[in-house]
Amino acid sequence: MLESSCLEAGAAFPTVARAEMQDTSRPSFSAKRRQSILFVTSEIADYIKAGGLGEVSAALPRELRRYYDVRVLIPGYRQVLSQIGPMEEIARLPASFGIPACGLGRSTTHDGLTVYVLLCPELYDRDGSPYVDRFGVDWSDNDIRFARLGLAAADIACGHGDDLWRADLLHLNDWPSGLASAYLAWRGQPVPTILTIHNLAYQGIFDRNRLSLLGIPDSAFQINGVEFHEKLSFLKAGIYYSSHITTVSSTYAREITRPEYGCGLDGLLRTRAEQGRLDGIINGIDESWDPTTDPYLVSPFSAKNCRGKRANADNVRKNFGLALSKGPLFAVVSRLVHQKGVDLAISAAETIVSQGGQIAVIGQGEPRFEAELQVLANRYPGSVGVKIGYDEGAARRMYAGSDFLLMPSRFEPCGLSQMYAQRFGSLPIAHRTGGLADTIEDGVNGFLFGEPSLNRFMDAIRRGLDTFNSRSRLTAMRKAAMSRPQGWGRSASRYQEVYERACRTALA
Ligand code: ADP
Ligand code: GLC
Repeated sequence: MLESSCLEAGAAFPTVARAEMQDTSRPSFSAKRRQSILFVTSEIADYIKAGGLGEVSAALPRELRRYYDVRVLIPGYRQVLSQIGPMEEIARLPASFGIPACGLGRSTTHDGLTVYVLLCPELYDRDGSPYVDRFGVDWSDNDIRFARLGLAAADIACGHGDDLWRADLLHLNDWPSGLASAYLAWRGQPVPTILTIHNLAYQGIFDRNRLSLLGIPDSAFQINGVEFHEKLSFLKAGIYYSSHITTVSSTYAREITRPEYGCGLDGLLRTRAEQGRLDGIINGIDESWDPTTDPYLVSPFSAKNCRGKRANADNVRKNFGLALSKGPLFAVVSRLVHQKGVDLAISAAETIVSQGGQIAVIGQGEPRFEAELQVLANRYPGSVGVKIGYDEGAARRMYAGSDFLLMPSRFEPCGLSQMYAQRFGSLPIAHRTGGLADTIEDGVNGFLFGEPSLNRFMDAIRRGLDTFNSRSRLTAMRKAAMSRPQGWGRSASRYQEVYERACRTALA
């Protein structure tokens, strides 16, 4: 086990002496000019997304543009290049150790967001998701693919990417960009870095024999560095070397400092929390989640007049092969993985159906869950409908048409689905954890249960069914859910504070 007592309680850049780190040509973050932020991410919904990170990466930089010159850096996956089209190569970034050279392209989205794209076909021009091939197997060179991302971010921050621009601060996201702060530290560059953890369970762990290929100094392979149980961890590197850590809800920020949720990194995270270098900032949702205007919906509706929900519900029933019904409609919109408590939702189905409820499920993920859901749909024809796959329009209609969203996640750093459901008048029934605890008020705009067991989950579902049978309570809860403020504005202000603090840490 990683023991907190073995972890240093010190500085952001412990491997280099302070004097070496001073770079007097670098303007201080608080200077008057508009500051430059490079938002480094492995997915952005404009072009490619595997989950909530892609949505956050599309929304948060846009919100932060009010205050900063924010630009995004992403790998040039096949799906990215095919949508952007031909791009000007503004720089050539050199090879380093086993990391190949690559081009740096610059593009602008339709609404003016500058996106830097890594042009390296040998690493990124493939079918599949950012992380896995089409059989769901991790790309065997993921360490090189994402070290390339981290190194490019460090290069751009040092002014070696775009002659006309350099970043005053790097905002890194999850393990794929974790090495960026380490590369800066090893170069002695005091560029402030924020690492946002969207999910601590994915850590980017690789064999130690890859160190030299990635240009990681042997001296960093230790507990106060990149080592995690004799392996290399990109996420640990990011947590260790970044000036400041955030995660996507206050409750998750506390949870991950405890062994039950800390995935072996709770000791280091506890140290960072004690140093005032770990914060929770809840995600927002973007303006496209508006039931009065969403073009995917069959019929628009609003908090004042929810009648349009009915047509969306009928559409969901039709598309999922469910019988016409006036009973409650439950939705599951989820990656089908253990984290999301899919097994609990499957176990709850029999009771829901016996009470006259119906369930529509859309998702993809672990084959065992996909198979069990198909079995469930065959067992309860007309009452349980399952689609294996990813379909944003269908998901939006499900939030709009359903009465309840089942979200019994074992842990949930933030969760966007419950917020989308609330906005579309579907009451989430969720485990009181992470961002679910921070966005759902039990009995007001959704239902929470205390531990991820079938009994507790069923208690909450029964409370939902009781509410469904009381029209006035259902209407009041729907209104409360739909009018809950959940834009990005407040979160963006909190990021501003954190950026300022990170700069003080890095330059101290
Ligand atoms: P996570 O990122 O852990 O999967 P979030 O709740 O943050 O969880 O984000 C999940 C996002 O993916 C939501 O926008 C949800 O609507 C969407 N989603 C998940 N599964 C599907 C699916 N099968 N089809 C369409 N959208 C989906
Ligand atoms: C991760 C988390 C999810 C969060 C999303 C965006 O995928 O599992 O809870 O909402 O990132 O931050």
